[in-house]
Amino acid sequence: MRILFLSSEVAPYSKTGGLGDVSGTLPGVLAERGHEVVVLTPRYATVPKEGLSLRGTLWLHFPFGAQWAEIWETRAGNLRTLFVHQPAYFERAGFYAEGGVEYADNHRRFAFFSMAALSAAQMLGLCPQVVHLNEWQTCLAALALKRGYESTQLGQAKTLLTIHNLAYQGIFPSWAVEELGLPWELFSPDGFEFWGQMSFLKTGLVFADALSTVSRRYAQEIQTAEYGFGLDGILRKRSNVLRGILNGIDSKLWNPAEDTFLPARYSKEDLSGKEACSQALLKRFELSSAPKRPPIFGMVGRMVEQKGIDLVLGAIPKLVEAGARMVIVGTGEQRYEQAFRELAGRFPKQVGVFIGFDENLSHNVEAGSDFFMMPSKFEPCGLNQLYSLRYGAIPVVRAVGGLEDSVVDASGEGVVDEVSTGIKFHEFSLEAFEAALRRALGLFEKPKVLLAMRKRAMGLDFSWDCAAKEYEALYESLLEAAP
Ligand code: ADP
Ligand code: GLC
Repeated sequence: MRILFLSSEVAPYSKTGGLGDVSGTLPGVLAERGHEVVVLTPRYATVPKEGLSLRGTLWLHFPFGAQWAEIWETRAGNLRTLFVHQPAYFERAGFYAEGGVEYADNHRRFAFFSMAALSAAQMLGLCPQVVHLNEWQTCLAALALKRGYESTQLGQAKTLLTIHNLAYQGIFPSWAVEELGLPWELFSPDGFEFWGQMSFLKTGLVFADALSTVSRRYAQEIQTAEYGFGLDGILRKRSNVLRGILNGIDSKLWNPAEDTFLPARYSKEDLSGKEACSQALLKRFELSSAPKRPPIFGMVGRMVEQKGIDLVLGAIPKLVEAGARMVIVGTGEQRYEQAFRELAGRFPKQVGVFIGFDENLSHNVEAGSDFFMMPSKFEPCGLNQLYSLRYGAIPVVRAVGGLEDSVVDASGEGVVDEVSTGIKFHEFSLEAFEAALRRALGLFEKPKVLLAMRKRAMGLDFSWDCAAKEYEALYESLLEAAP
């Protein structure tokens, strides 16, 4: 199949979270499986031009700002990655925001990106059968293919929109309709209007031929008022075309047996290297390991409400009291960053904090931790718990979204069973999280049970093969569907 894949983040070129990981891996896996895949993404300041070749310059007709874009390309086998280069929009210090403040022209930047992506496809004579969109940043392409491109070959392509996180919707004041030159008749509840504003994501939900999200559980949750962020109505309406496909992981990049970021490597057959990683992590953060090797609780992630940061902050003093050590790596809201810095200052020998984005460190936290904390308020898929399972860091998770779908709870304290891979709790409360952490501490006292659970977790297969097949089947069903 010929697939065009649009994403505002593609690792290793750009990444703020899991979207970058997914867009950096899935297209390559599909290409390896024999499909012709072209990825389109902005050329941010993080993407050097060396190694890329210029494919042409486009002129776009927008009622605002920059009108041209250069298209740069890199190829690997069946996979082509095209970068939309327009320095005024994309060569900035951040991807979406700077100093915690969203760029005021994000509606223009990503309308521009989406239109330039389609225009590039046309210029290069690509004839995709499927256009796979991701997140609100690419949603205007779904509308443009139906209104504007409908009489072209490109307009015959079927569109799939994958929702990675419903909390991010791309909502702008109604004047954005005028500014972007969009048709006012679509500014209605059946179109892209959302409580008096213009919604990019809703545009995609209405105009894409099919919708998917990144776990089965989340596909159900977003159809409820509790997790639907105001869009549950339209999602229920379109539930016949909505699917949940659990993300995979890049099992070459995230493999403790070959991970060159680590001071020692290990596998489920021989975990001695993991202990070396734990010791190195304690040392790196200058945490004490006296009087005996303490349990280590890790966390890596965006410091935003979604991730249950309030619960982690609340639980740390009791974990310290219980003799545990914590290593926290992340960046995000300033109030959270500040709160973690304060805790590290208060407990310098027990709590290690790194505020910032550090790929190397994220691998070292997975490898060095005994337990990995993800008490998320909601979690569409979550990749960190999948990395944790692979690295034998037992995930302590709230039973939502992809966390619910990928972790099997040890039912009861340190129970010996054949299937459990982690610890789950249900209610979003400090009490429930603390009870789960107590179960983790109990498990640490039973090394044999813990080891068996680690090995089980490390033996699971979360590679992309399975998910890639599901996407293939979904693309195929779209092509078979009546026009
Ligand atoms: P989300 O996409 O909601 O942020 P995921 O668990 O799906 O959550 O993916 C997060 C990805 O981003 C993981 O690869 C994680 O290691 C990475 N990540 C998040 N914050 C940081 C950070 N501060 N440093 C390094 N990697 C990070
Ligand atoms: C989002 C979600 C996360 C998911 C990722 C990749 O950022 O918050 O749960 O794993 O996208 O799909």
